[in-house]
Parts: sequence; C-alpha cells; structure tokens
Amino acid sequence: MLEELKKIEQQALAALKGIEDEAALESWRVAHLGRSSPLMEAFKSLGKLSKEERPAVGQRANQVKLALEAALEERAEALKQAALSASLASERLDVTLPGRALPRGGLHPVTQTLRRITAIFAQMGFQVYRSRDVETDEYNFQLLNFPPHHPARDMQDTFHTTVPDVLLRTHTSPGQIHAMREYAPEPIRVILPGMCYRYEQINTRSEIQFTQVEGLAVGKNITFGDLKGTLADFARRFFGPQVRSRFRASYFPFTEPSAEMDIECFVCGGEGCSVCKGTGWLEILGSGMVHPTVLRNGGYDPEIYTGFAFGMGPERLTMLWYRIEDIRYFWQNDLRFLEQF
Ligand code: PHE
Repeated sequence: MLEELKKIEQQALAALKGIEDEAALESWRVAHLGRSSPLMEAFKSLGKLSKEERPAVGQRANQVKLALEAALEERAEALKQAALSASLASERLDVTLPGRALPRGGLHPVTQTLRRITAIFAQMGFQVYRSRDVETDEYNFQLLNFPPHHPARDMQDTFHTTVPDVLLRTHTSPGQIHAMREYAPEPIRVILPGMCYRYEQINTRSEIQFTQVEGLAVGKNITFGDLKGTLADFARRFFGPQVRSRFRASYFPFTEPSAEMDIECFVCGGEGCSVCKGTGWLEILGSGMVHPTVLRNGGYDPEIYTGFAFGMGPERLTMLWYRIEDIRYFWQNDLRFLEQF
C-alpha cells in the first residue's frame, strides 16, 4: 500500500510538469485529487486495512495529498505569472508617448465679435439687455413708428407665424420699447444683442438669420454729439485708433434725424479697393436720435427726454475685419472655415 501511494505521488507530480494552461490544470486536479482519483480511492480503502497497518498508511496518504495540493498551487501561481508576463510583453504600453489630443470646440467667429462689441460698450457704461426673438407686429413695427402698410416695412421682409400679428423680429429695435417701458422715467444706457430674421433671398451678402447689436441711450440732454462721439469711439476701439469715421444722412422711421456711419476702409486706407468697392469707405451701422413718437411709446416725455439709438450687424463687422467674402459661411458649419478663428 505504501508502495502504491508512492507511485500515485510520482505519477501525479510527473503529469503536472507538462501542464501549460488553466484548463489542463483543472483536469489534472480532477484526475489526481478529485473524488474518484487513485489517491481518494486509497483513502476509501483505509477501512479495509488491519489496525496495525492503518496509521502509517493513513499518515502517508495525508502527506501525499498535502504534497499534491501544494504542487497544484505552485503550478497555478506559475501559470498566472507566465500569463501576466506574456501580456506585458505583447501589450507593451509606452507611457512617454504624447497623448492623442481631443478635438476642442471654439467660439464661433460671430460670437467672438459679439463679445468684443459687448466688452467695448461695457467699458462705456452700457449694460446688456436681453429681448425676445419672437415679437408682435406692434413691437417690431407699430410702436417704432412703422404704421401698417407703411412703405418702410418693405426694407424688412418678414417671417410671420401662423398666429396673426406674431412674427420673428426683423431687427433688435423692438427691444428699445421693452427696455424703455421697463425703465421709464429712469435714464437708460443699454445694448441689445440678438438674432434677427428676414425673409430674404440668400446670397453672399444676405442671410435669413443674422445677429444685430442695438444700442439705446435715453436721458436728459442727450445730443447728436453724444451719438457721434460714442460711435466714433466704438469704431476706434474696434478697428484701431487711427480709423476715421463719417456720418451720412439716412432714414429710419424710429429715429430723427437718422444717419448711417461709415469707417474709412482699413484695407486701402481710403484709396479705394475691392473691399470698399472703390469708395474708400465701409458702411458699418445705422443710427439716429430716438423719434419723439418712439420715446412717447416707451413712456418718456419727448419734451424732457432725448435719446440716441444705433444698430449694427456683427456678421458684417466680422466680414470686413477678416475679409470674408460670403455671409453664408457663418451658417454652413464647415470646419475648414470655422477652424480659422
Ligand atoms: N433697426 C435698424 C435696421 O435693422 C438699424 C437701426 C437701429 C437704425 C437703431 C437706427 C437706430 O436696419
């Protein structure tokens, strides 16, 4: 019996040497330590032995069991180590390689321009006043002194909604009425940035949606000189300290007198080039003194209060500044365009 146990041990240990993976190791465990393995059979047959033989054989069987279990554990650990070093060798990781850059978004060029405009007017004491994109005909036109059927409405082709008299604002000027009605009779100094919508033929110069920045100052003793000074200063801060500006008489129903402001072409310095179409000047905004009727509609007595207003198009300023030739680029979502800013 003792001989038998020795053979069992030797055979099991010999078989263990050739084992290279976990599945084989498990079969080995079943074959040599499992319920019907020769070793376990030996344990079961202990009862058949004589009292004298039993202790020595039992002890020996236990030794063999412990030896096989220890060998199994050692082999399992060795296999684990081998698998680990194999994966370390094949999946080598070079931690010194630079990482892959994540694509990062940037601010849209018009947003950048809007922020520059806002910062300049903030330095001059103008607060941002948010106003709605969806307006009524009353606010977008009537209170701004465009009576129904007035030909000046043709300047701004309008998107109407299915609700009568509700439309997408064609300019940021209705925000003037909202701001005045909120603050009257206190003085006002605000800018109103936001999206505007016009039912227009889309081409290189016109889009059906675009941003505007409206400005409004209302108070006592506000003059056309304040308007000119404020806007000429804005132009110098935006385009550079050398830039010259001029005012040309114009017409808007809600301002009187009205003027458009041009800046000297910064591309040719006023000589005349393709950007300024040979004129030496670039138109950048519309402006004027707030019409007495509009002041009254806003809740201010035009005998006591005056004000000025202006409206500019950030897309247009951005196009001039970067010499972008087609306004449609702003909404095309083409990264080749957007990534340049
Ligand atoms: N709202 C005018 C436009 O869209 C611009 C403007 C604003 C003119 C304020 C004068 C005063 O064309």
